Parts: sequence; C-alpha cells; structure tokens
Amino acid sequence: MAKAIQYTELGGPEVLTLNEIPDPIAGPGQVTVRIEAAGVNPIDWKLREGIRPTPPFTGPRGTGTDAAGHITGVGEGVDGFRIGDPVVFTGAPGAYATDIAVPAEKVFARPARVTAGVGAALGIPVGTAYQAIRSLGIRGDDTLLIHGASGSVGQAAVQLAALAGARVIGTTSDARAERVADLGGEPIAYGDGLVDRVRSAAAGGVTAILDFAGTDEAIDASLELLEDRDRIATIVRGPDAAEFGIRAFGGGSPVPLTAQQETWRLEAIPVVLALLAAGRFSVELGERYALEQAGEAQRASREGAPGKLLIVP
Ligand SMILES: NC(=O)c1ccc[n+]([C@@H]2O[C@H](COP(=O)([O-])OP(=O)(O)OC[C@H]3O[C@@H](n4cnc5c(N)ncnc54)[C@H](OP(=O)(O)O)[C@@H]3O)[C@@H](O)[C@H]2O)c1
Repeated sequence: MAKAIQYTELGGPEVLTLNEIPDPIAGPGQVTVRIEAAGVNPIDWKLREGIRPTPPFTGPRGTGTDAAGHITGVGEGVDGFRIGDPVVFTGAPGAYATDIAVPAEKVFARPARVTAGVGAALGIPVGTAYQAIRSLGIRGDDTLLIHGASGSVGQAAVQLAALAGARVIGTTSDARAERVADLGGEPIAYGDGLVDRVRSAAAGGVTAILDFAGTDEAIDASLELLEDRDRIATIVRGPDAAEFGIRAFGGGSPVPLTAQQETWRLEAIPVVLALLAAGRFSVELGERYALEQAGEAQRASREGAPGKLLIVP
C-alpha cells in the first residue's frame, strides 16, 4: 500500500494524518511516480487552515503539489516516459505521499544533475516567479523591485530577472541579504525607511515591482515608488489588489489566472531544469522532514524557516 498525508477538516497541523491509500494506477494520460522528495509551499498550510477557500470535504484530502521522483507506471496514450525515468512534477494535489498518479503534462524529465530535492523545490516557486516576470514583461532596461526576494519565489525571480538583464533590488531580512546578493540581486532591508532606501539605491526610480511579501509596508511602498500600477503585481494580496489598482496573480484574487499565465507557470519548469543542468540557476534547500513530520514541516514554513523545506517519504 502507498502512504499519503491527508486531512478531513480544516485546522492546525494536528489535522494532518499519515494514511495508507490504494496504490495509485496510471489512468489514460497519466503516469505514476514514486516520490523521493516533495516541496512544502505556504499554500499547503494556507489551504489546511482555511486562509484560502476550498470546496467542502467529500473525503480525505491530500496536501502538497510539487515533488520529484521516478516513473513507476505509464498510462495509455502517454509518450516520452519510461519506467525508472527521473522526473519532476507540479500542480498535483496530494504530493506529500510515497506514490501518486499525475497527468503527464505536469511531469517533466529530470536531468541527471538535478537531485530529487532540488526538483521538488521547483514547481510553485519557479512557476510563479517565471509567470510574474513574463506577465510584467521584464527586460534588460528594467529596474525591478522584489519584496520578499529571499524567499523561495523571490530567489527564483531574482535569478530569472537578472538573466533577462534587469537590475534587481530585493527586500530581505539582514540574515538573508547575502543570499540575495549571491543570486545577482541588490539586497535592501525591509522595515522602517524602506522607500528612502530604495530611492537612494535607484536614483532613476524603479520601473516594475513584484510583491511576494504581502505586508502593508510592501504595498504602501510600492504605491509610493511607482506610478504605473500596471507594472506593480502582488501574489499575496489578491483580494485587495483591485482596491490598490495593482495587478494580482492568484494569491486569493477573484480574477483567475489567464490561460497564458497558466501556460507560463508550466513552461517555467523545463526552462529552469535546463538552466540547472547548465549550472546557471541555484536552489536553496532547507530542512528535510519525514512524511509523518508533515505538520512540523508546515509549521516551520509558516514561521519563515529558510530554504525550501522538503518532505522525504
Ligand atoms: N499567488 C500565487 O500563485 C502564489 C504562489 C507562490 C507563493 N505565493 C505566496 O507568496 C508568498 C511567498 O511565498 P514563498 O514560497 O516565497 O515563501 P517563503 O519562502 O516562506 O518566503 C517568505 C518571504 O517573505 C519575506 N518576509 C517575511 N516577513 C517579511 C516582512 N515583514 N516584510 C517583508 N518581507 C518579509 C521573507 O524574508 P526573510 O526570510 O528575509 O525575512 C521571505 O523572503 C507566500 O505568502 C505564498 O503563499 C503565492
């Protein structure tokens, strides 16, 4: 029997239980994956706590969406995968598990150089960062301000924007500033005086802003620093974005992602896998947790533990 972390009611980490589940079978258009590592994302605990709305429970619900492992079964109509292939997938609910069936279009071949841990860290952070940068049309003549540059999404965005040739200024705690600098960003401390610090760093002004922090300070500073509201986007304050006149990509926004934005989120994965294989992208891994420690892992994510936390079944 396979095993998965599940819950049947909203609540704290204690609602998560480790259950035996029937071994998944690869249906038409699907593959099955033996999971070697799953990434912990803030949305996992936001959904569990009811911070982001979900439909009523109709049975046990899995958690986690991003993981890496190897193929154990190939369903009808699937080309390009063979049993044993190392892969990465994203957008598959129930990834905190030993085994899972996933639609083949969400699964990508994992180059030998990319470990399962690094592969599991890609999905949501890399997809979101890449889509946000494409949506804002970040180019070589941009000066981009990123709020929350030291987090998983932020680190991906710093690197992708720098690769596009943009100048990147990223807010961070002092403890995480060096990491932002290592990735090609110019770290600036968040907190009192943020607007002045950005102005003295970028005398010509910033031309685009991405908010991955969601604090009032990040929103207020963004509105003060850039008149062009179409070039300010948040991924956290979706419900309030219209009131501020800025763009939102998910994050509780009543406006769903467009088909193009969804396409970019998936396209990001092979793009970054190729960058990783070429040694041109870096992923910071954090603590690893056993499947039965999933609640502890989500608590650590909520408390802002550094690096991508992993569940290792
Ligand atoms: N809309 C979407 O589709 C989408 C997708 C992915 C993520 N998200 C959301 O985006 C946010 C970031 O996700 P993540 O995976 O990158 O999380 P993460 O890895 O936990 O990073 C959190 C970031 O927030 C920063 N931060 C913490 N307190 C702050 C403060 N007071 N002021 C400014 N920055 C502060 C952290 O900086 P330090 O560590 O340096 O303090 C860190 O850079 C989460 O809220 C997540 O739910 C939304």
